[in-house]
Amino acid sequence: MHNKLNLSKKIITWYDNNRRSLPWRVPFRSPKKLYYRLLSEFMLQQTQVKTVIPYFNKFRKKINNLDQLSSTNEKKILKLWEGLGYYRRAKNLLLTSKILVKTHKGKLPNNIEEIRKLPGVGEYTSNILLALVHNKPAIAIDGNVKRVFHRLYFGGKKNINIIDFLKKNKEKFYAEKRNSDFAEALMEFGALICSAKNPKCSICKLKNFCKFYKNGKNSISLTSRVVREKKFNVYCYLDRKDKRMALTNRNKLGFLKNFYLPSVRQAAKKSKNWNYLCSYKNTISNIKMNIKLYYKFSSKIPQNFGWYSISQNKEFIPTFTKKVFNKVLDLY
Ligand code: ADE
Repeated sequence: MHNKLNLSKKIITWYDNNRRSLPWRVPFRSPKKLYYRLLSEFMLQQTQVKTVIPYFNKFRKKINNLDQLSSTNEKKILKLWEGLGYYRRAKNLLLTSKILVKTHKGKLPNNIEEIRKLPGVGEYTSNILLALVHNKPAIAIDGNVKRVFHRLYFGGKKNINIIDFLKKNKEKFYAEKRNSDFAEALMEFGALICSAKNPKCSICKLKNFCKFYKNGKNSISLTSRVVREKKFNVYCYLDRKDKRMALTNRNKLGFLKNFYLPSVRQAAKKSKNWNYLCSYKNTISNIKMNIKLYYKFSSKIPQNFGWYSISQNKEFIPTFTKKVFNKVLDLY
């Protein structure tokens, strides 16, 4: 028989020897801890570690503490977020920082209900912040963590509600003094060892306790995300002389709200009076866009449009629009 599995101890030992050095992983007593954890966890919502690192570093160089963040204007925050996507996160981060500074003396509340009230902070983020910032017992269940538990205890096969399972068995999974490390170690373990594709079972410290390993590593996919694909037409008014494109920040798409875009419509029929340029795909948040790009040279543009030269780059211009601009550039 195997020894009883002491999950937190095993995972934390593994973490101590194998953790990645990431810029937001500062010592627990560091004065930067709250700011770095807040910023990184907002950036890491929906986004992978390797994508976040350069954005995190750029952001912290420009704005280097919570106080400063709370008094920065939204435009500047969005500019620093440019290219990372899901821009509501940036707006919510700013609102959260203001609330922390004004009503919580620049500290994170130390109970889950209060943390949960902050803008942009859901179930996952509230738990990870409680663990990381206050070292309180809380398991933050992201996709990685879900997969680890699912494989370990259920073989990764059945459709089990892991969140329920963890809530019911909470006490089993708390690490006595190192709740912060345990919460982060679980994610790290899911990312580096118990990965979705090609898990590294041969070097896994938990394999002798793992149902998934015992069952011959068959599992259902736990990571499938629903991505809707939709057809769009993009219409670009171009000004030949000054290499400009007409943009508006009043689209009715239901996403990229308030951002500067050319005219974008969900595709219906063929577009008369427009020149077809090319087709391509672009994913915005959870929408896969199948795009046909049209253009015309015109000195007249509709109401609410203005001329923009992307090279000036003063306003926040989303990546979506920059891609369009790159495609029409050869036409000038
Ligand atoms: N994903 C979300 N938060 C993370 C963290 N602190 N470390 C690694 N991956 C993460």
